[in-house]
Parts: sequence; structure tokens; C-alpha cells
Amino acid sequence: MPKMFASARAHTNIALIKYWGKKDQKLILPYTDSLSLTLNEFYTTTSVQFDEQLTHDEFSINAEPVSEHNQQKLAHFMDLIRNQRQFNLFAHVNSVNHVPISAGLASSSSAFAALAAAASKAAELNLSATELSRLARRGSGSATRSIFGGLVEWHKGHDDKTSFASPIDEQVDFGLEMIAILIDTSVKKVSSRSGMQNVVATSPYYPAWQEVVKNDMVAMKAAILKKDINLIGQIAEENAMRMHALTLSAQPSFTYFNAASLTAMDMIHDLRSNGINCYYTLDAGPNVKVIYHHQDREVILAALSEQFGHNNLVVSQPGPGIQYLK
Ligand code: PMV
Repeated sequence: MPKMFASARAHTNIALIKYWGKKDQKLILPYTDSLSLTLNEFYTTTSVQFDEQLTHDEFSINAEPVSEHNQQKLAHFMDLIRNQRQFNLFAHVNSVNHVPISAGLASSSSAFAALAAAASKAAELNLSATELSRLARRGSGSATRSIFGGLVEWHKGHDDKTSFASPIDEQVDFGLEMIAILIDTSVKKVSSRSGMQNVVATSPYYPAWQEVVKNDMVAMKAAILKKDINLIGQIAEENAMRMHALTLSAQPSFTYFNAASLTAMDMIHDLRSNGINCYYTLDAGPNVKVIYHHQDREVILAALSEQFGHNNLVVSQPGPGIQYLK
């Protein structure tokens, strides 16, 4: 029997144009395209060993067994691999996250991208990057983009074959950087899955959001071509706020912001009025991510550390796509 082992590393990505809403829950097909930056600082490393002796998959995350809910979700994902490979072997799956889990720092993007890569490689499926992106999508929508490094676009497509990510610029060399402000790294109250469902079903603004994303995708790609960080930041900030307006306009309404998120957003506005070009974006959690040119890093860090403490500020450069480890 061949060794059927592989280990892979994937980095998280933060969306500059957000994905919020599934057209197809099972296949995870989104209503809109989206666009992200893969980050160097946050990543997941996963190893998969198929084993004839096992009668079910065994998962650990950060050396701890996983919850019943996650066990089911992950085993379901492994079934996709078994179906494609047409075998019935179970696996030991060990994941180490260098990301606070479920805190809007996109841990699911790196988690499912790393699992898709390690499991498909261990099963000797020989997937292309596009096929890998489609597979990762089945675990978590944002994972579809973490197969690639740098600036990445997820084409919404209309079925399993046509919904995948492709790189826009894998070697981002114009000084784009992010600071993650770690405001609260506990598990979020509303999962992105249920938050999306609620918004799609009840926000009267959902049709407008789809138009917003169409326009923002065009504008953002033009800004990237021009390597214009101010424009990239402006479009990203506006897009994020419009996504969060969906949660506020849902029934029942909810928000991922907390008081400290608002303080951080205020501070970014103040820095901007003082001539420092920086912008913010937030995902399904209270942590704020700041977008800026690396030449302004020290000024921004100095201002934010007074309020949040230096240890809660994580600087990240653009990061790479999937890596297979020996
Ligand atoms: O695919 P999920 O369940 O991790 O949802 C991602 C949702 C956002 O992070 C808020 C937006 C995005 O495009 O990543």
C-alpha cells in the first residue's frame, strides 16, 4: 500500500470585496464575485494520513479533538475526497492553526484550503489549482481563494465547475500591507453561514448589494492595475461597510461590531484627517483590519498601540498560495 500521506499549508485571506450570501447552500455557490488579499502572518498546516485500520476519520485541531459539529462537517468534506477517488479509506487529520479560530480572521479559509490540498494529495487525486479551489469551496466559501497567494478573485460561476478562484496578482510588490487589530479573538456569536442566510432571506438591501459588488469588482481591479493603495483602501472600506449594513438591516438585525471596533474605525478616520492614508475592513467578527502602504506602518502602529496595545496589532504582508510540506 502506498504511503497516502501529505501535509500542506494555506494562508488566510481577507476579502477586499466581500462574499456574503449563498445561492446554493450545498455546493456553496455565492450570489456575487469577491476579491481578497492572502496574508503571510496567519496560516493553517494540515497533515492527512489515510489508514486501512480506521473505521472513521480522526481529526485534531491544535492537538485537541474537535467538537461533534466540526467532526461531522469535516467528515462530510472527506467524503468528497473519497467519492472522487472512489475508495473507502478513513484518515488521521491533524491541523495546526496559526490564526485565532472563528474570530473573523478567516480561519476557515486557511483551514479548508489546507485540508483540501493535503487530503487530495494524500489520496493522489492530482488536482489542478482550479480543481483544488473548487474543492476547497465545498468546505468554506472563502477557502476557495486561499489556494492562491496575493490578490485573488473568486468567480461566482453558476455551478460546481464554474465557481472557483484565480489569481489577479500573486506577487504584490507595491507596498500593500494590513494590520489586524485583535480586539476579541473568542468564537463569534453569529456564524457566517447563519448570518448570510438571515441576510439573504430578510434584508431589503440584498438586491442592491449584488449591484454594489458588480461595480466594486470592476473598480477594484482597475485600482489594482494602477497599484493605487488609496483607491484600493477606499473601495474596500466602502464595500465592507455596505456588507455590514446588510446585517443591520436583516430581521432580526445583528452586527459583528463591538464598541472597540467602532473606536478603531474612528481612529482610522482621525489618522486619515491628519493626512495618513489608511482604511479599514471587517469580516464576521469585531476585529478590524487596516489597509495602508507599508511606508505609513510605524505612524499607524504608534497611534493604534496607545489604544489597543502593541501585542494586539499584527502586521501582515501579502502571503503565498498553497504550499506542500515534506
Ligand atoms: O466562507 P466563510 O464562511 O468563511 O465566509 C466568509 C465571509 C467573509 O469573511 C465576511 C467575507 C469573505 O469574502 O471572506
